[in-house]
Amino acid sequence: DVARNLELWMDAIVARTFGHESIELLAKASAVPVINGLSDHSHPCQAMADFLTLRETFDDFPHIKLAYVGDGNNTCHSLLEAAALSGCAMAVATPPGYEPDAGVVERAQAVARRTGAKLTIGNALGAALRGAHAVYTDTWASMGQEAEQTQRARDFAGYQVNEAWMARARPGARFLHCLPAHRGLEVSTGVIDAPISLVYQQAENRLHAQKAILAALILGNHKEHNRTQA
Ligand code: NVA
Repeated sequence: DVARNLELWMDAIVARTFGHESIELLAKASAVPVINGLSDHSHPCQAMADFLTLRETFDDFPHIKLAYVGDGNNTCHSLLEAAALSGCAMAVATPPGYEPDAGVVERAQAVARRTGAKLTIGNALGAALRGAHAVYTDTWASMGQEAEQTQRARDFAGYQVNEAWMARARPGARFLHCLPAHRGLEVSTGVIDAPISLVYQQAENRLHAQKAILAALILGNHKEHNRTQA
């Protein structure tokens, strides 16, 4: 009923939920496009803005390596999907037990085989950072995981992206974070507030990327609708 009401008033629905199944349910019931504005499973709008940022920053995109350090969470899942589609290399380093979902990785690897992307998942930070053009991290405790904060701070302690770890990436490597960031936890102030940081360019690109997603889906949907009417 929520979807059937909203579709009468809107051209599209952007849903930001905890449970991913709520978005899938809305999409099944709705005649207008449903966009995942963030779920506990994935964060595709963020990844679109991030890959726009990488494309703007690196002349040799997609021939770059992105290192993702930290939690194998919603953001990590969508970055893996975007890297697979773009043909980039992406190396994920998480603490043991915090790896990305095996199903997401398997599907991304299947796409990567087609595009030539190289995706690796592991726990070793040094290996992930070696040769990386860009280093990405996200909060250690996502929304809804506040009760796990203390345990996670312990488990992720060696995974802070700081000056010492950035020195293990390519010289001049750039830093990315979807924000909000916790300075002193997943990233040091010296990294996120340095000129190498792309976080505000990413934030600006949320606007441009999301406008593009809305335009593509709404215009596409109207065309589809007109075809059906005709
Ligand atoms: N992984 C984070 C992203 C915040 C934009 C969360 O889900 O809270």
